[in-house]
Amino acid sequence: MDKTFVGLVGMGNVGAGVARLLLDHGDRTARHAGRILWIRHVVVRDVLKPRPVELPSGVLTDDLDRLLNDSSVSVVAHLVGGIEPARTIMLRLLESGKDVVTANKALLAEHGPELFDRARELGRSIAFEASVAGGIPIIANISQCLNANRVESLRGILNGTSNYIITRMSEEGTPFSDALAAAQRLGFAEADPAMDLDGTDAAQKLAILGHLAFGSAVHWNQIPRRGIDDVSALDLSFAAQFGYRVKLVAYGQLEGRSLQVRVAPMLVRAGTPLAEVRENYNAISVVGDFVGPVFFHGQGAGPAPTASAVVADMIDTAVGRTRITFQTLRLWSEIESPVVIESAGRLAAKFYLRFNVVEHPTVLADVAGVLNRHGISIATVYQQDLEEDPEAELPLVLMTHRTTLAAVESAAEEITRFEFVRSAVERLQILD
Ligand code: NDP
Ligand code: HSE
Repeated sequence: MDKTFVGLVGMGNVGAGVARLLLDHGDRTARHAGRILWIRHVVVRDVLKPRPVELPSGVLTDDLDRLLNDSSVSVVAHLVGGIEPARTIMLRLLESGKDVVTANKALLAEHGPELFDRARELGRSIAFEASVAGGIPIIANISQCLNANRVESLRGILNGTSNYIITRMSEEGTPFSDALAAAQRLGFAEADPAMDLDGTDAAQKLAILGHLAFGSAVHWNQIPRRGIDDVSALDLSFAAQFGYRVKLVAYGQLEGRSLQVRVAPMLVRAGTPLAEVRENYNAISVVGDFVGPVFFHGQGAGPAPTASAVVADMIDTAVGRTRITFQTLRLWSEIESPVVIESAGRLAAKFYLRFNVVEHPTVLADVAGVLNRHGISIATVYQQDLEEDPEAELPLVLMTHRTTLAAVESAAEEITRFEFVRSAVERLQILD
């Protein structure tokens, strides 16, 4: 049987999963590719570090040039995180004649135009299924299977680490820091987990998906975002009490030429498919004008599911399928963006508001007055029984009818100025 010689740059969480899949299931990949994918070089920073997968002797190296100069290697899995040296490594791989498969969404979201242009100039390809939603084949589905549609909306849970942490906190009362440490141990988190926790990673993935789905040249930095790092156990518990779960949701909604994009923790009605996505799982709901709603669900982070996506891309690249799709895919090309990004303030939704108050006879009247002045009507109010102690701080929870984010922001700012309010106003969008 023919062999395609392949290389890996990076053998951390994902690289180890890829090496394990290629080495332990070579017969399966050979059957599906019609050729053996043979690992020639695995480049890492530190060859002395213990590795969970034993490689054939002579394969592991810290010398990138060995891979670059080996003209028998045609496909390389680029599994290094961050921007530099990941960007330079990818350019050097392309320039030395390799087709690249990458899992690095931060790099694509930041330098996609440069890298894709360079690959096209050189007649090479970049495959990136693993860069969004781990093992879920969402890139192939949006860019190929659904491409007869005009995609109208995307809603996704795109960060496995955040979803894992929120699941552990909500279901078992695990403290945030312990849940994060477990996500890191399991290989879900980024080398810098701040990217997972502050919404950056989800925004980078949404920028990539939004580009494919809407043809929008949205830089991830333009996407209004908030992560789960400051969501409290108290709000998770109130959400559950009102029949919701808190999820870090990334969404894009197209109306005419106007695109609304946002990443934020939101209240999602319990029992709906997005609300029931647990642990390191991700999900994406896509609505196309002809297909209607389609829902994808699977593990969004971790060595094994990510390796599934990387190796599928390596097979597609080895057999020549990627070259065809890459050349037809106008991702990050010069074409003008057909959409305009709507300002976040115009977002219309229902909201959950919670703040702590001390006993005061006009609390409800004063708060309702502010909301009323901003055109916000209240759907539900919940106030814990006031204690004997007049200084006791107790949460007041309000759910609003449909309003705008701008109105909520202005009202929240005014509410915090009341002397009986003793905390910032937590505000979470309710996804309907
Ligand atoms: P890790 O930090 O676990 O691994 C990174 C690897 O890159 C290490 O093996 C490291 O070498 C190697 N490396 C770093 N710098 C260099 C260099 N200059 N030359 C050669 N090798 C280098 O990251 P992950 O495996 O978790 O993630 C890799 C990429 O995949 C990231 O872009 C991430 O966002 C993405 N991703 C991760 C997923 C996950 O579940 N973890 C899922 C989907 C995508 P050494 O081991 O010697 O330090
Ligand atoms: N750190 C990322 C996550 C890995 O938790 O979703 C998958 O891209």
